[in-house]
Amino acid sequence: MRAAALIFAFVLTLACYLSFRAQINARTSEPPSVETAELENSPGPVPAKIDFGTQIRPIFHSGCQPCHFNGGTMYQRLPFDRPETIKTLGTKLFTRIKDENESRLIREFLAQ
Ligand code: HEC
Repeated sequence: MRAAALIFAFVLTLACYLSFRAQINARTSEPPSVETAELENSPGPVPAKIDFGTQIRPIFHSGCQPCHFNGGTMYQRLPFDRPETIKTLGTKLFTRIKDENESRLIREFLAQ
């Protein structure tokens, strides 16, 4: 009987200790770091960036749909609403894009 009481007391003490530690851990755990936010606000000269959505995509959207856009026959293989497709094709695109201004924009986009 005595042994049982001792074991009970021991288990109780252990439980108290563990819950105390859990509380300490919760209070001292650090907040998530915010490093990524700082990268975008870094000072210094920023070269004019070509924006895919507003400058590149419209070129393809006007000339290459429906085939290379959602629902088109080439959308599975070469979706032109994705910047990666344009990057992957690279200079191959210039066999189909003849306009000087459009080519220049795409060339700058590929270079960045
Ligand atoms: C009428 C449908 C259609 C339109 C519009 C179209 N394509 Fe395609 N495109 C295809 C098909 C089908 C293929 C695959 C067969 C082939 O290579 O010709 C293809 C393949 C390609 C390829 C890969 C073949 C290669 O030359 O390496 C490129 C790059 C390409 N298209 C660019 C364009 C561009 C840029 C435009 C818009 C200026 C465009 N396509 C408009 C149907 C189309």
